[in-house]
Amino acid sequence: MSAPVAPSVADLVARTDALAEQVIAWRRHLHRNPEISFQEHGTAQFIHDVLVAIEGLEVSRPTTTSVVAQLRGASPGRTIAVRADIDALPIDEENDVPYRSTVRGAMHACGHDGHTSIVLGLATLLAGARDQLAGEVRFIFQHAEELSPGGAEELVQAGVMDGVHEVIGLHLWSSMPVGKIGLVTGPAMAAPDTFQCTITGKGGHAALPHDTVDPIAIGAQVVTALQQIVARQVDPLEPAVLSVTQFIAGTAFNVIPNSAYLSGTVRTFDPALRRLMPERMERLIRGITEGFGATYDFTYELGYRPVVNDAALTERLAGVVSRTFGAEVLEPLRPVMGGEDFSAYQQRAPGVFAFVGAGNAERGITYAHHHPRFDIDEASLGIGLRYLTAATLELLGV
Ligand code: NI
Repeated sequence: MSAPVAPSVADLVARTDALAEQVIAWRRHLHRNPEISFQEHGTAQFIHDVLVAIEGLEVSRPTTTSVVAQLRGASPGRTIAVRADIDALPIDEENDVPYRSTVRGAMHACGHDGHTSIVLGLATLLAGARDQLAGEVRFIFQHAEELSPGGAEELVQAGVMDGVHEVIGLHLWSSMPVGKIGLVTGPAMAAPDTFQCTITGKGGHAALPHDTVDPIAIGAQVVTALQQIVARQVDPLEPAVLSVTQFIAGTAFNVIPNSAYLSGTVRTFDPALRRLMPERMERLIRGITEGFGATYDFTYELGYRPVVNDAALTERLAGVVSRTFGAEVLEPLRPVMGGEDFSAYQQRAPGVFAFVGAGNAERGITYAHHHPRFDIDEASLGIGLRYLTAATLELLGV
């Protein structure tokens, strides 16, 4: 009798190639059948059915639209969580592809179908080597990344991070060419907060402005003044965005309306700056509306925390990328002002969220995430699987 031989990283990583076609097939199934945030019932059932058919996984449903699979190795060791988000967006797909969305008003326009398929591939691959693994891998298929308050916090509350030593995840990234992997050390994705403001004046005839308090003229001043916060009150070296994205008022050319509605988003990294933003905004809104005799109603909602990649872990995973693919694959990326609820897991364990290039200009795959013509180069799926396989094995200490 010989002692069990631990699988070499190279062996398992090489086996990712054999799974690439299956991963593409899963992705296309999910792409055809998208479900938006908190409504991923069919998606979760599909994931569940794939996972329970894999020998060696313990599959559970922490919420009605999420799935977790645990793979316990032959001996104790570290516990590594791998997260995939599974939800689609309320968008009508405009791509003419064989795997086009069959659901009106829903589309996988952010690549979460790919994330799900990659992690299904990872579960398949690692479960096949269970006898030779030490520790536990926890595969988290998370609902509702796209819609605040998000699914991650709910899953953390349900205990999916209990006992986890490190957590990793990835995002397919269409603005980066396929074949590249991007890692950001430290702050990587911003805190995405939202605000709403209703300005109430006094409506009336457009030809008699002196008898009204015009909320459109006041709202325009508010929009302009809000831009001064980032321009004049925030350290130029500190990233911040304040975008007013809705300005709704009026019904006719000859009527000054009673009120105007504004909403938008604020993106920051620094917690102290983040805390200051709502009071700075309200101070301006109060001053301008009061100055013109109007009133306001301002609400500010905190979104996800910023994604902050653990520095030591990022360095380790950069080493994994270099060894697995070659140093030229590693793309040093700057932080992005988009938000991600992967940050919820990072409150419980050190984590790294990676970007996997999925764009291909030659093939016209250049549309931005959340665009009705968004797509990925499916070669990115195999690359993502290979990366997660090598990264998970590294963290398990194989
Ligand atoms: Ni996304």
